[in-house]
Amino acid sequence: MNHISVKVDGTTYEDEVEPRLLLVHYLRDRLGLTGTPIGCDTGNCGACTVDVDGESVKSCSVLAVQTDGSTVTTIQGLASDGEQHPLQEAFHQQHALQCGYCTPGMIMAARDLLAENPDPSPDDVRQALEGNLCRCTGYQNIVRAVLAAAGELRRRKAPPAPEDGASRDVAPAGTAATAAQSDTRGKKASV
Ligand code: FES
Ligand code: FES
Repeated sequence: MNHISVKVDGTTYEDEVEPRLLLVHYLRDRLGLTGTPIGCDTGNCGACTVDVDGESVKSCSVLAVQTDGSTVTTIQGLASDGEQHPLQEAFHQQHALQCGYCTPGMIMAARDLLAENPDPSPDDVRQALEGNLCRCTGYQNIVRAVLAAAGELRRRKAPPAPEDGASRDVAPAGTAATAAQSDTRGKKASV
């Protein structure tokens, strides 16, 4: 048995684990974090993707002992203060899932992409998600969702616009929502 100390979704765990224990089994069976699914168990489908020290990894391809001293984030650690991560929200809004089995891995891989490239093209998204398989959606809505989340994250990081009551007053009702959608729609056209 090996002793590990690992921070998962904000909580530090001290554990004794067998050297052969896979990270995905540690997360699911030991910690009860079943939000990370197992699809293939052979590194092919990406369903089990989590973040380890800022990099997305397939947790069925990593031993738990390899994460000693690391910080791991799973899909269950993305929401904050009860509010979903923009990627989670965008997958919901853009209908980017059906059975949902691939979704945690898709979102974790997309999160890694957006950390490196906040303004990806549709091709960038497809390339970043090429290791994640979906049997249901045909991928189009997944790409749209990632682009929508990228737009939302950029909007949140942008400095606040100067106060301009006049221009806000003349904007038609629903403009904010429409603007957010058109950002997505402009990119949808090129997906
Ligand atoms: S379960 Fe890990 S890649 Fe499929
Ligand atoms: S939504 Fe079913 S596998 Fe992707």
